[in-house]
Order: sequence, then structure tokens, then C-alpha cells
Amino acid sequence: SITRHYKFNVRLQNVTRLCHTKTILTVNGKFPGPRIIAREGDRLLIKVVNHVPNNVSFHWHGIRQLQSGWADGPSYVTQCPIQTGQTYVYNFTIVGQRGTLFWHSHISWLRATLYGPLIILPKHNVSYPFPKPHKEVPILFGEWWNADTEAVINQALQTGAGPNNSDAYTINGLPGPLYNCSANETFKLNVKPGKTYLLRLINAALNDDLFFRIQNHSLTIVEADAVYVKPFQTDTLLIAPGQTTNVLLKTNPNTNNTAFLMAASPYSTAASGTFDNTTIVGVLEYGKNPSISSFSNASLGLPFPILPLINATSFVANFTSTFRSLNTVKFPANKVPKTVQRRFFFTVGLGTNPCPKNQTCQGPNGTKFSASMNNISFSLPTTALLQSYFFGKSNGVYTTDFPSTPLVPFNYTGTPPNNTMVSNGTKLVVLPFNTTVEVVLQDTSILGAENHPLHLHGYNFFVIAQGSGNFDPKKDPARFNLVDPVERNTAGVPSGGWLAIRFQADNPGVWFMHCHFDVHLSWGLRMAWIVLDGDLPNQKLLPPPSDLPTC
Ligand code: C2O
Repeated sequence: SITRHYKFNVRLQNVTRLCHTKTILTVNGKFPGPRIIAREGDRLLIKVVNHVPNNVSFHWHGIRQLQSGWADGPSYVTQCPIQTGQTYVYNFTIVGQRGTLFWHSHISWLRATLYGPLIILPKHNVSYPFPKPHKEVPILFGEWWNADTEAVINQALQTGAGPNNSDAYTINGLPGPLYNCSANETFKLNVKPGKTYLLRLINAALNDDLFFRIQNHSLTIVEADAVYVKPFQTDTLLIAPGQTTNVLLKTNPNTNNTAFLMAASPYSTAASGTFDNTTIVGVLEYGKNPSISSFSNASLGLPFPILPLINATSFVANFTSTFRSLNTVKFPANKVPKTVQRRFFFTVGLGTNPCPKNQTCQGPNGTKFSASMNNISFSLPTTALLQSYFFGKSNGVYTTDFPSTPLVPFNYTGTPPNNTMVSNGTKLVVLPFNTTVEVVLQDTSILGAENHPLHLHGYNFFVIAQGSGNFDPKKDPARFNLVDPVERNTAGVPSGGWLAIRFQADNPGVWFMHCHFDVHLSWGLRMAWIVLDGDLPNQKLLPPPSDLPTC
């Protein structure tokens, strides 16, 4: 293992997409941001220097941060943001993980432009559980906004309305030919016939689950969220914000000088009529002169890959429940906790807040849009939770009474209750070191059922079951998979359904759990766990680095 040094200069940069030039926040002037590559076991030292007017912080999404919670990055959770002119060195070691992850800014909506791949190769002399691919290609899905995303979310929070949508989806920062004035900004992957490519798919979009398909090619899924899975083939896949998926693409043996479209479109059951249902395309090119019949035609004159409908919930249920851990002799899976010490039942969904006096709000019935877990919309403090916890200064910052079940149970996926109001608070759950935890996450239909990609910091969790409708505590536990469940850091709570997860609290610190749609995150669909130190030296959170930002 070695130590790898990266420097992230956060600076403004003019970037043009859709014939619209805009000054955006970038890392080292790049959009999307630079690729971090390391090996399992390496230490990363990433020096961030903030040259922009905004406060920033960075999250290494999916990295476990064992004992190094100070490097996790969510603003006001594990650190105060890095202010203009300040520097912070993220210092962590990659333990027991290899695969595709990504990094992104973790404050407000700055992830819109501040994101990039984080690729962890296996240790030297350790191979993949599949033949070595001819090439490895990161493919990042994102969004392009002509507007300033900070203005978009700040205005939405002020008026209580739902925020606007982006102007395009992107593949590696490029919107592609289906959008106006964008044909020259098309992602192209040039391939040779008869080879295997490893595509490292990353969904960094702010607010959209995406279907993805390549015309005339099937994909073999081999890894999810940097954990190997039992390989399976599919034409179409779904990837939620915060998820990463490695797929093998076998190119056709006898194809040359031909092109195929790849396309991604959103999955959503959101009630909002203004939802962005556009499609992003890229091109898979064989040979030097792929025959694209018409560059003036939006789909380049190529056959269009047929994607599921925007609300194809049954496709999503089938697809997401296909995942299993690989669990072979050579690549054994981590063990799912067979017994559970703490059980939780959390509702996840939307709700409303009262409109402040002397203000008109544009949310439902003149209220403000909000989102909650167990009816609590989580407020971020003005200092960082981890510091408050570590230095024993929780007073006035947070409380530890986050409810383990909804205070007033209701028919979660039935007719919505009349009262949609949520309460605000900074409530956490305290877990003794090594507690085995089960959480059933129940979507609610208050203001419309929706798929919520739930992300846990500091851990992977096992997805032991999912289902539609209300979770039934008498019947559904019989369906729990305690044999080979997939291990992930982000999983969708099904629209109008539930998801059951387990994890073992073996990493001391304060760990955020939230919906990875930035709009829901901003509305309060988030909470945090405090995991206490264990008795042994390697079970304790290490003290903070001396350059940790202050608020
Ligand atoms: Cu990728 Cu808390 O997020």
C-alpha cells in the first residue's frame, strides 16, 4: 500500500453547454471533476483549497472511513464547511473495499458540478472475479443546469415550492444530440469488436433515477456500490443517484464501422407534472468511421434503444430484487447479521411545513414543501455534529431522541392523511459499538409515493428484503434473505413500498443517512446515527486533524 496525494483546487470556470456559457464551481477547472484512482489498502491525502465564494466540503461516497469519520465530509455533520481561502486535507485509508465509487461536494446543491469518479483497484496480484477487461471506462450520469443551482434551491426553500428541473441530463458532462444546440457535445465510446469493456457507471444526477440501455448489446452486472455481485445479464438497468454499477459490455465480434446509441431516461412516480422526462444519448462506435447516417437528426439516424416507461415500477422492483452478493470461495461476502439487537421502522416521504408569517408559500395549500423520516424533518445545526459529539458539547446542537417507530402510525401507502405537517428537529440515534441494526424503511404516499434512494454514510448495509404496500411485521420477516443479500451503500425505498436493511455498527462516529435526491435532502429527508467507541484501540474514533475547519 502507498499514500497517494491529490490536490483539489476548487475554482470558478466558464463552461458552455446547450449554447449557454456559465461560470461554475469546478475542481481543478474540470467538469465533471478529476478521477481519483487508488488501490485497496492505500491511504489518500486529498488537499482541498477553496478559491470560490461558496463554502464547500467533499464526501467520498461509499468509503467506509473506519475510525476516520472526520474525513467523511457532509457539511454540518462531520465537519464545518471549508470557507473561502481555507484548506483542508482529507486523510483516510481504504480498508477492505475495491470497485467504483465517486466523490462529490456535500453542501447544498454544489454536487451539480462538483463530482468525479473514485476508483479503487484490487490489491496488487489480486484479480477481478471476471476475466480482465480490454478497457475500463467510467461513465458518469449528471445534469446540466443553465440556471445557478444555488439560486434554484434557495428560492425553492424560500417560497416553499418545488424547485425547477435541470435543462439536460449528461453523460460524462455531455448532454448529447437530443437537446438543443448540443450535438457537438455527445459522449462517444469507441470500441473494438469482440472485446470486453468494464463500464463503471455512476449516477451523480441531483434528483433522478435513470434507466440505461445500449442498443443491440446486453450488459452483465458484476458489481454494485463497490461490492461484487452474482453476475447477471440485462438489456436495461436502473441506477439511482448515489449508486454505482459495474457492467461488462461484450462488443459484437463481427461489427465494424457501425454506431449504436446508448440512452438513459428517468424513472419517477413523483406527482409533480413538471418532471424532466427527457432522454440523454451517447454513441457506441465501432471502428474509425462508424456510419452515423445523419448528424442533423437528433438521434443521429440510429435506431433508438427502447427504455422502460417513466413510471415502470414493476421493472424496477424486478431489477433491484435480482441483486445478490457474489459470495464465492475466492470472493466471500461479508456476513449479514443473523440476529438483531436494535430494530427500527422509519417512514420516508414528503410532507409540509407551515408557511412563515408575512410570507406567501407556493407549496400545497399554501404551505412549504418538506420531507421527513418518522415525521421529523431533520435540521442541520450551525456547527458540526461530530465535533459536538466528540467534545461532549451536544447541548443546544442535537438531541438523541430520534423515534424508532412513527409516533402516530397510519396507512402509509393508502389514502394520505389530512395532516401532512412535519415537525423539525436535530434528533439522532445512539448505538453502542457493534450493535446489530435492522431498519425497515417505509415509503409514504403523503403528497405522492416516490422511490427514495436511501444512502448511509460510514457503512454498507445488507438489503434483506423489499416489497410493495405497507410492511407487515407478522408476514414479511419470513421473506428476509439472510443468506446472500446484496451489500450496498445506497438502495431505493420502493415507490409505495418498503425496504429492509441490516448493518453492524462497527464504525464509531456520526453517520448521516438520507435520501440521495438533493431536493429531498434539502427538504429534510435525513437523520444521523451516533456510533459509540468500542473498548479496543482499533474501535475508537481517532481525534480530529488539526486543520479541521471551524464554523
Ligand atoms: Cu453521496 Cu450524503 O452522500
